[in-house]
Amino acid sequence: MAAVTALPVSLSARFKGSFAYITVKDRLPQILTKVIDTLHRHKNEFFEEHGEKGVEAEKRAISFLSKLRNELQTDKPVTPLEDDLPDAALWNQYLDYQRNLSNGNGEPSWFQSPWLFIECYMYRRIHAAVTQNPPIGSFDVFKEGKAQNFFESQEAIIALCTYFQELLKNIKDLDEKQLKGELFKLLQVSLWGNKCDLSFSAGEESSQKTSPLQSLENMVPYIIVNDMEKLWSLLINAKKSNTDKCIVRVDIILDNAGFELVSDLVLTDFLLSSKLADEVHFHGKSIPWYVSDTTKNDFNWTIKQLQAANHMWMSRCGINWEGNLKKGAWVYKDHMFWTLPHIYSSMAEVAPDLYADLQKSNLLLFKGDLNYRKLTGDRKWEYTVPFHQALNKFHPAPLCSLRTLKSDTQVGLKPGQGEQIQASDPEWMISGKYGVVQFDATT
Ligand code: F6P
Ligand code: MG
Repeated sequence: MAAVTALPVSLSARFKGSFAYITVKDRLPQILTKVIDTLHRHKNEFFEEHGEKGVEAEKRAISFLSKLRNELQTDKPVTPLEDDLPDAALWNQYLDYQRNLSNGNGEPSWFQSPWLFIECYMYRRIHAAVTQNPPIGSFDVFKEGKAQNFFESQEAIIALCTYFQELLKNIKDLDEKQLKGELFKLLQVSLWGNKCDLSFSAGEESSQKTSPLQSLENMVPYIIVNDMEKLWSLLINAKKSNTDKCIVRVDIILDNAGFELVSDLVLTDFLLSSKLADEVHFHGKSIPWYVSDTTKNDFNWTIKQLQAANHMWMSRCGINWEGNLKKGAWVYKDHMFWTLPHIYSSMAEVAPDLYADLQKSNLLLFKGDLNYRKLTGDRKWEYTVPFHQALNKFHPAPLCSLRTLKSDTQVGLKPGQGEQIQASDPEWMISGKYGVVQFDATT
């Protein structure tokens, strides 16, 4: 009988000094305060659009969020959702599950419960605060920050679109070695694009200022797990063995809007233009999430912005990308599961339709830190535990995480590797300076 290895504890703010503790104590209240401030600043807009009803709704939303912030800061119990949104029942079931887990040691609460649960719960309560107060229900409290990231990353976006359109001119003449080199470059741009995330910066601006292609070389040492060769062989073998012309499908589970989304779209266009893939499915968030995560509005807005840009290569990208969506080579989806608190090892049970859909893919690319935390269960793993083991039977298809480290959990390192980095750079797990391209084939 194979030894059943106990799963390590979940990251939690109950561990003083952990990054979870700092996040719950300082950063989550900061994010809530910024949301309240955003609503305040839009009071006139709400009045113009909706009259007194709009101002009343804004006041109710603000008092809702101020109460939430107080609950958080004073470690009150986590309360069931009382709204009628479609996922409320699943959330309340999960709250019951957490209550049973704590088996009588008090109610689930902000500092005692698993970090992943209460952080996701906070964003779901923010969503309820807005949607439950019509007529401002469709207001995205994070939209300004996401748009600001896009506009302040213009130089980087222009550099990336220009580079890519030049590459497209002779993409058919590239030999395999050159094609691999370009794939590796664009994978790294997409990886480092993940540094630009507003929940991490607690809403402070975090746009990409420099050209994303210049600094790749000297950032290679900061990629502490680098499975790009495995990605290459999966893709090139799928392309070569594609005798019966079945389509090669790649899925990208998106993370942040702004520069990171543009880097993901360029990578995707490359996969199609190089014929390494025939179809790409994007998975975004169905509600505003973790400050900068991509919603359908953000996805469509970004493509429209590029189309309308007065820069030839930006608009060329935007026009091509809208064409890919129209002809079905690109498909955008936003399943509710991605904004639930569940870790991905429970997807097959909680969202069997989504799991079955992902099983149709040749390769799943998971962007960012929150996805990594959900892939590996947000647990205090030993650094050297194999990625495959930490996935805990989550294997819908071959998958790869493109993640910059912004939380203190990491697996799949070589013996001594984590300790060595820790010695030279104590902030390595939470600075966003290090990244992984971490692959797991399905077996
Ligand atoms: O603490 C940083 C944080 O808010 C984490 O909670 C979360 O994992 C991460 O930022 C989000 O980063 P990303 O956008 O890469 O998923
Ligand atoms: Mg994010």
